[in-house]
Amino acid sequence: MKQVSKSFPGVKALQNVNFTLKKGEVHCLIGANGAGKSTLMKILSGVYTKDEGDINLEGQPVTIKTPLDSMALGISTIYQELSLVEELSLAENIFLGNYLKRKGGIIKWRQINDEAKRLFSLLGVSVSPTMQASQASMGLKQMTEIAKAIAAECKIIIMDEPSTALSNDEVLKLFDVIKLLKEQEYTIVYISHKLEELYAIGDRVTVLRNGKWVITDEMKNLAQPDLIRHITGRTIEKKANIHTETKREEFLKVKGFTNQKIKNVSFSVSKGEIVGLYGLVGSGRTELLRAIYGADPIQTGELQIDGKKKSITSPQKAVEVGMGLVPENRKTEGANLDLSILENAFLPSLHSFSKNSFVNLRKMKQVMKDMIEKLNIKTSGSDVPLRNLSGGNQQKVIISRWLINNSRLLLFDEPTQGIDIGAKDEIYSIMKELSNGGTSIIMATSEIEELLSVCDRVLVMFEGKLIKEFSQPSHYKSEIMNIAVSG
Ligand SMILES: Nc1ncnc2c1ncn2[C@@H]1O[C@H](COP(=O)(O)OP(=O)(O)OP(=O)(O)O)[C@@H](O)[C@H]1O
Ligand SMILES: [Mg+2]
Repeated sequence: MKQVSKSFPGVKALQNVNFTLKKGEVHCLIGANGAGKSTLMKILSGVYTKDEGDINLEGQPVTIKTPLDSMALGISTIYQELSLVEELSLAENIFLGNYLKRKGGIIKWRQINDEAKRLFSLLGVSVSPTMQASQASMGLKQMTEIAKAIAAECKIIIMDEPSTALSNDEVLKLFDVIKLLKEQEYTIVYISHKLEELYAIGDRVTVLRNGKWVITDEMKNLAQPDLIRHITGRTIEKKANIHTETKREEFLKVKGFTNQKIKNVSFSVSKGEIVGLYGLVGSGRTELLRAIYGADPIQTGELQIDGKKKSITSPQKAVEVGMGLVPENRKTEGANLDLSILENAFLPSLHSFSKNSFVNLRKMKQVMKDMIEKLNIKTSGSDVPLRNLSGGNQQKVIISRWLINNSRLLLFDEPTQGIDIGAKDEIYSIMKELSNGGTSIIMATSEIEELLSVCDRVLVMFEGKLIKEFSQPSHYKSEIMNIAVSG
């Protein structure tokens, strides 16, 4: 891709970007939220058309105006929000759109199952191709997308933040598959905010910043601090965890919480405390947060706030007593993509900015402006629809919602997923600021470093049970990890 430029109303998403792929390489594409990574790849996959620039494939100029053009050239994209048809089988999904190529247009379903089986075993995945997509885990769905790309005889596979929704095991499996694909001369573009991942699989890397090309080099030539400097344009010093604690009052008490996914969970959280929830995907972290928030019912158990028993039977009730949840899957649970940034951010706190049904719009806009600055949300203004923001910037807006609302208890489920390295630190310091002001926070995460640097106390879950608490978590890293794996 040569000198590629693309503008959206009010935003220069890409300016004269050069991007080259060598056959058979894993090329990492990185940069802060809103840098232009997804846009560049959407141009390659025909979702967006470029304003300027040229694209050459194997030395020949090519025109890509639609996704079909891109597919015909052998370019496949695996989107973060996977695109399988839930009601169809995995095999049907793999060949959906591809069977048209077959001679005479006749579909041989029996062959399709056999062929799907062959593709899965090629990828080292053992699964029945007749399984319905809705039954498959995130990891398996992704493998199905990869199988689909191979079935379509692609040469280039674009993976836009493929690891965000995967468990650690699934990520390792994905890396194995990527290595396998590389051996077979597939070319892979890998987008991620997790720098360790890049070093694990990347051959070369290209960094974008503010829509501009910054550098392309071999992964091995760039140490982590160099990468961070290229991404952010500055050096980031690790902030020390200055979170002085005095004697604390208990705020939340959870007693014997039990439902299908969690078993007899009891713990308490003090005012101004940051408690981490650690465990593997499926250990019940998300389910515990949802139960506290009233999003999932409990069979037995009791919840107290400030020593008083409360019955939180819906998220609405949770918000009324001062709770806020940043859910794991913002696309489906947290955000309304058609509403503006402002509307999304102020959804739960509208009442405190209105008087006699008059909304104080000026004040809201001022508060939002501060948030946009603080979290470095990349947008031309607060009335832009959320849909127009990059993935990570959408996540920042959902987080800002609860920072604005002066919640007394914040429940964060993987809050920094898809968030760039600069904004992560900003979110941690806001969390600390909030907790110093008395807000209690429970944060579920699968990133151990995040957990150790931010949390005062860590609860480790395994198979729906709370196994152990650690009050000086940074001293017990390996123990915490061991318990999460084997209970
Ligand atoms: N459809 C659109 N309409 C308007 N603006 C858009 C649209 N798509 C992207 N943008 C803007 O283009 C810029 C680049 O966005 P892009 O999605 O490419 O970022 P990204 O590097 O993928 O970020 P992230 O890491 O958050 O996914 C952002 O400022 C974004 O708001
Ligand atoms: Mg993106």
